[in-house]
Amino acid sequence: MPPTDGVEPTDPTRASGDVPADAATDWPLRTDRLLLRGISPADAPALQRYYARADVARYLLDDPWDADRARAEAERRTGRLRLDGPPRAVNLAVEHEGTVIGDIAVWMTGRQRGEAEISWVFDPDSGGRGLATDAVAAVVTQVMDHGPVRRLVARMDARNTRSARLAARLGMVREGRHRADWWIKGEWTDTLVFALLPTDPRPRRSETERSTG
Ligand SMILES: CC(C)(COP(=O)(O)OP(=O)(O)OC[C@H]1O[C@@H](n2cnc3c(N)ncnc32)[C@H](O)[C@@H]1OP(=O)(O)O)[C@@H](O)C(=O)NCCC(=O)NCCS
Repeated sequence: MPPTDGVEPTDPTRASGDVPADAATDWPLRTDRLLLRGISPADAPALQRYYARADVARYLLDDPWDADRARAEAERRTGRLRLDGPPRAVNLAVEHEGTVIGDIAVWMTGRQRGEAEISWVFDPDSGGRGLATDAVAAVVTQVMDHGPVRRLVARMDARNTRSARLAARLGMVREGRHRADWWIKGEWTDTLVFALLPTDPRPRRSETERSTG
């Protein structure tokens, strides 16, 4: 598809798998509104604040977190900031005005082919203002335009319409729906699969805001 108004031109060389070295040293990232930085054990209470909520856990594999789980997860996610070498995963806390409002993970699933998966979880109290969109868009730019990712996949419970809207806002293409392939909280659920390639048009930030406002 040729670039159209509001769409970034794409770089055809990226389609060949000729990707630059990892941009691990470029964390933390800043956007106009957000700081995206590595997670530390001290983030456990902040993560628990939203992971403990039933509405956040609803479409996640996890049950709502207690304090022990939050501590274990904050520790497990600490220092994971490299895609081109071990642990081949990045776990970021997203801060808005000094408060952690969400977190984003990217992990390599097919290193030789530049394949990675991304997931995001945000505090609903900060929702509806495009903060999650801003944060995930910044990470997508970093790992695809400056990092080793050629194909970025997002999977979600098919009932998670907000998450699907977020993926679509970023220019991710819905590739399919896997029927009844996950057992979550007592039932078989469908999974939506979105993916982004270097050749896919990505909305510019102003376009993202217009199309969602
Ligand atoms: C998925 C999730 C991150 C989406 O959160 P969100 O609040 O919809 O996302 P944003 O912060 O980007 O806000 C986007 C909304 O704000 C609106 N908005 C307002 N100002 C905006 C701006 N400047 N830019 C973009 N959107 C803006 C958009 O219209 C959009 O609303 P809509 O989806 O009703 O059209 C959140 O629901 C979540 O964390 N859920 C729980 C965990 C989960 O399920 N994670 C995904 C697992 S796969």
